[in-house]
Amino acid sequence: MADTAVGAKTDPAQGSDPSRRDFIYIATIAVAAGGAASIAWPFIDQMNPSADTLALASIEFDLSKVPVGQQVTVKWRGKPLFVRNRTPAEIAAAVKDDHAALKDPQTDAERVKPGKANWLVLIGSCTHLGCVPTFGGGAYGGWFCPCHGSVYDTSGRIRQGPAPLNLAVPEYAFLSDTKVKIG
Ligand code: FES
Repeated sequence: MADTAVGAKTDPAQGSDPSRRDFIYIATIAVAAGGAASIAWPFIDQMNPSADTLALASIEFDLSKVPVGQQVTVKWRGKPLFVRNRTPAEIAAAVKDDHAALKDPQTDAERVKPGKANWLVLIGSCTHLGCVPTFGGGAYGGWFCPCHGSVYDTSGRIRQGPAPLNLAVPEYAFLSDTKVKIG
């Protein structure tokens, strides 16, 4: 009703045009509905953690999928996670350097679970600026970060380049010989 009055006063030439009145009415409804939707959404959004967040808070991973000398990369909390089944040679190389001059000193045993030295679980995010290192590069047989040349050994410890810290080991636990829960 109000739209008819406004149309008649502001534009006498179109006041009696039914198509003009319909346009004003429809536009008013559309703006009102849009406004309500945009106010309601932030409340709804804050109350519901996304399905992704809930699903990825912790994950179970089947280790039988990873042969010796291979690794699988899993996405976890938005980051890559390396699950590597190390060879005896990789373990020996890591242990041999336990007391080398390390930038972020840690023994290999501190980075794995007792009796499970072949399994190395790492957050695959370079501790310099977060690029994803690749396995098999660098002078220590471990990971190499192509962004600025950081080199990690077979324990994921930083050995060369600008990264300040070892690749992080997330919280995880063995549920059985072939299953781990990460997070
Ligand atoms: S992000 Fe890896 S060396 Fe810079």
